[in-house]
Amino acid sequence: MQIINDFKMTIDSKSVNESFARSTVAAFVAQLDPTLDEISDIKMAVSEAVTNCIVHAYPECVGKIYIHAAILEGSRVKISVRDKGCGIMDVKQAMEPLFTTLGGERAGLGFAVMESFTDKITVRSKPEKGTTVTMYKRINGRAAL
Ligand SMILES: Nc1ncnc2c1ncn2[C@@H]1O[C@H](COP(=O)(O)OP(=O)(O)OP(=O)(O)O)[C@@H](O)[C@H]1O
Ligand SMILES: [Mg+2]
Repeated sequence: MQIINDFKMTIDSKSVNESFARSTVAAFVAQLDPTLDEISDIKMAVSEAVTNCIVHAYPECVGKIYIHAAILEGSRVKISVRDKGCGIMDVKQAMEPLFTTLGGERAGLGFAVMESFTDKITVRSKPEKGTTVTMYKRINGRAAL
C-alpha cells in the first residue's frame, strides 16, 4: 500500500472546524480529478467522522483531532480521523445503524453514512484512550465517465 502523496493536520474539536476539515480533505482529493458525487461522498464521510470526535470523543472539553489523508496507488484515498477522547466500549454495537448514546439528539447514522459513502472503513478504539476511524475510497474520476 504505497503512499503517493499525503498530508496531516491537527484541528481543535470545535464545530466551526468541521466544514474546514471536510473542505480541506476534499481539496486534497481534487488532484485525482474526482466527480462531484465522489467529492460529495468524501465530504459526507469526513464530516461524520469529525463530528463524532467533536460530540462524542470530547463531550466536555476541546481536544485535538488528527486527520491524515493519503493518495495510494490505483487512485485510492485513505483518510484517518483520530482522537484521544473517551473511546468506544463496543465498536460493533456502535457501528450498528440507529445505535446512538445520545438518544433524542442524534440519529445513530454516522457510521452507516461513512460505510455507504466509502469502500471500506475500519474503527479501532480503546476506552479512555481514543478512537481511530480509517476510510478507504477508490476515485474513478471524471475520466471514467
Ligand atoms: N470518536 C468517537 N469517540 C467516542 N464515541 C464515539 C465516537 N464515534 C462514535 N462514537 C459512538 O458511536 C455511536 C454511534 O456513532 P454514529 O456516528 O453512528 O451515531 P451518532 O453520532 O450517535 O448519531 P449521528 O451520527 O446520526 O448524529 C455514538 O453514539 C457514540 O456513542
Ligand atoms: Mg455521528
